[in-house]
Amino acid sequence: MPKKIYIRTFGCQMNVRDSEALLGLFLERGYQAAKDESQADIILVNTCSVRAHAENRALSYLGSLKKFTERRRTRGAKRKVIGLIGCMAKNLGEEVYQRMSHVDLICGPASLAKIPVYCDKIKKDNIRIIDLDDDLRDEEFYRSSFRLQPDHAQVVISTGCSNHCSYCVVPFVRGELRLRRPEDVIVEVKRNIDLGIKKITLLGQNVNDYPNFIDLLSKVEKIAGIEELNFITSQPRNVPEGLFEFMARSGKISKHLHLPFQSGSNRILKKMNRGYTRQNYLQLVDSYKKIVKGTLSTDVIVGFPTEADKDFLATKDILEKVRFRKAYIFKYSPRPRAKSSKMVDDVSDELKVKRHKILLDLQKKISLNK
Ligand code: 5AD
Ligand code: SF4
Repeated sequence: MPKKIYIRTFGCQMNVRDSEALLGLFLERGYQAAKDESQADIILVNTCSVRAHAENRALSYLGSLKKFTERRRTRGAKRKVIGLIGCMAKNLGEEVYQRMSHVDLICGPASLAKIPVYCDKIKKDNIRIIDLDDDLRDEEFYRSSFRLQPDHAQVVISTGCSNHCSYCVVPFVRGELRLRRPEDVIVEVKRNIDLGIKKITLLGQNVNDYPNFIDLLSKVEKIAGIEELNFITSQPRNVPEGLFEFMARSGKISKHLHLPFQSGSNRILKKMNRGYTRQNYLQLVDSYKKIVKGTLSTDVIVGFPTEADKDFLATKDILEKVRFRKAYIFKYSPRPRAKSSKMVDDVSDELKVKRHKILLDLQKKISLNK
């Protein structure tokens, strides 16, 4: 009987792609995908550390998996391998290793390619493994042809981030910015085309940090067979000169931009270390609208330390002015190790909830009207 693997994914598109690539490696080794946890020989939980809420959900899910190891042991059946992988492994791995003895594998984002071998070892030698290395990801990780969707594929162009926004845990869990070589990106895009996939999304924490990003876009859009090309995420601080003109001219790049602004208050933007002002942001949006004539989406954080009514109203004002097609609105969550965790989290939970709701309601109206 072939062995079965189940991967539960929390978090962003990057994690979805990582889980897909990892599942592909297991399928290549003869595993089958399990429908649910109870059917699986290996259960991996691919996690997100961006907010405490995401971590808590994953922790309680991980806790709930204990029942499988207990039941299995009493029946004398073969052991299931349970793994905590991805961002939270890096953030809380040591703690989970101590606290949850039913978790056999802890593996950070840089070492995902090694997981199939680790799982074999865990079974064979009856050991636990923890790997929190920061090494460059092995290109082999992206090698499999398995895709979750028949018509749309995500291709990672870079991992990690070196911008160090003060609230953000990403540089600590995914590491500093690491680039994939353009030729490797192109090989992967071509592989997707060969699989019959015509829509490609390039992924990076901040795609603008990719040197000569427009050049990369131009190489990718020329690949025969591509019908639609997208990219996420763009940081307002370093949108490359000429990107909007390029988007406007291209017949392949979709006319949509995800451009998180996080806060409309210059004082808060400075504390967030975002590297732009509200005026810079609004100018950028203005030229995007004029040149590309496309749609926009964004991310917003409410309740950052010291956020006063005036700051919050400046954020609300940007939502009203720009009228995004979609806005992802988050309550500030202090992340240990991120610089802002040293600031007093002085906006009460009650006020965060209130501000969050005001923006959600506002955006709902805007999205409906659009
Ligand atoms: N608290 C709340 N939201 C956060 N984000 C990132 N870090 C935090 C945090 N500490 C949000 C930002 C980012 C999105 C992926 O998550 O809006 O753009
Ligand atoms: Fe993705 Fe960031 Fe969450 Fe990691 S911490 S899963 S990179 S959103």
